[in-house]
Amino acid sequence: MDTKIITLGIETSCDETAAAILRGGREILSNVISTQIPLHRKFGGVVPEIASRRHIVNIMPVIDQAIEDAHIKLTDVDQIAVTYGPGLVGALLVGVSTAKTLAFALDRPLIAVNHLQGHIFANFLSHPELEPPFLSLIVSGGHSALINMKTYNDFDLLGQTRDDAAGEAFDKIARVMGLPYPGGPEIDKLARQGNPNAIDFPHPKVDGYDFSFSGLKSAVLNYLNSAQMRGDEINNADVAASFQRTVIDSLIGKTIDAAKNFGLNSIVLAGGVAANSALEARLRAECERRGLKFYYPTKILCTDNAAMIACRGFYQAADGNFAASDLNAYPALTVSD
Ligand code: KG4
Ligand code: ZN
Repeated sequence: MDTKIITLGIETSCDETAAAILRGGREILSNVISTQIPLHRKFGGVVPEIASRRHIVNIMPVIDQAIEDAHIKLTDVDQIAVTYGPGLVGALLVGVSTAKTLAFALDRPLIAVNHLQGHIFANFLSHPELEPPFLSLIVSGGHSALINMKTYNDFDLLGQTRDDAAGEAFDKIARVMGLPYPGGPEIDKLARQGNPNAIDFPHPKVDGYDFSFSGLKSAVLNYLNSAQMRGDEINNADVAASFQRTVIDSLIGKTIDAAKNFGLNSIVLAGGVAANSALEARLRAECERRGLKFYYPTKILCTDNAAMIACRGFYQAADGNFAASDLNAYPALTVSD
């Protein structure tokens, strides 16, 4: 494995236009993220058409910045890794088309990266000593899944959400409470002032390692509506803390069960919701209590970025897994595809 190889990573699956330069598998030379969050905030969520158009405007300046920050030239790039799914199709196509064009113009290999696998790989950048096998809990805006990661290129999907992703539930509840988009960090902040045991929301009941958050989301929304109709004063901090505790109970319960049943002693948290302070603290404490090793990415690598895409791309390339020049975007890719 060439440890000096330079990988350009490109990420445009949702509302972040990102490019990064990696040397070898784990050394970040640059990591540029241009977020569109302020643009989408007034709509209360990501507007796909606006996201695609903004990616088109941002993509080349972001790549130029990544090259400049890394103190290299574009021609120093040895290979190009790009997110090809899952995500918003119009947004993904901007990254995929740009990567294909650069790969053709520079005559460099192209690597098609699964965004969810990328989230797991963010951990390799934050923890140079980390290696598979381990159990990974991915919790993002669009996905919640448990993966038994056996090698760098072998992902066994143990369970996933049957309806809403954890982040989606955070965002929806925050929106109804009148908090700005994205709601996850807002609920996280508000919950710190609330009592997590104040309200007993129903715990999701799903067999195996699957998750479900739509029932819980509806229960919280009903609670808010009924209280409002009765004219009761709502303690938003208690609602946020109690909802968050219920989500975390469900995530942690399944994760610990899976680690036990599959004999895995390292747990790796990944995805945007991994930035949640209570989830991180409780999973860390639970792992310590049971003698399990716990890993999670530094905050900037939790949410969408291109360094994690370049990292995943590096390990795919080392395995000879390159993309053809007719690469398309796949909005519904699952983590083990
Ligand atoms: O992984 P990500 O950046 O994008 C997707 O691939 O979906 O995740 C974004 C999600 C959003 O739903 C956002 O509200 C949530 O991650 N999020 C959080 C926190 N920070 C971001 N959720 C809970 N607590 C946080 N601190
Ligand atoms: Zn993501």
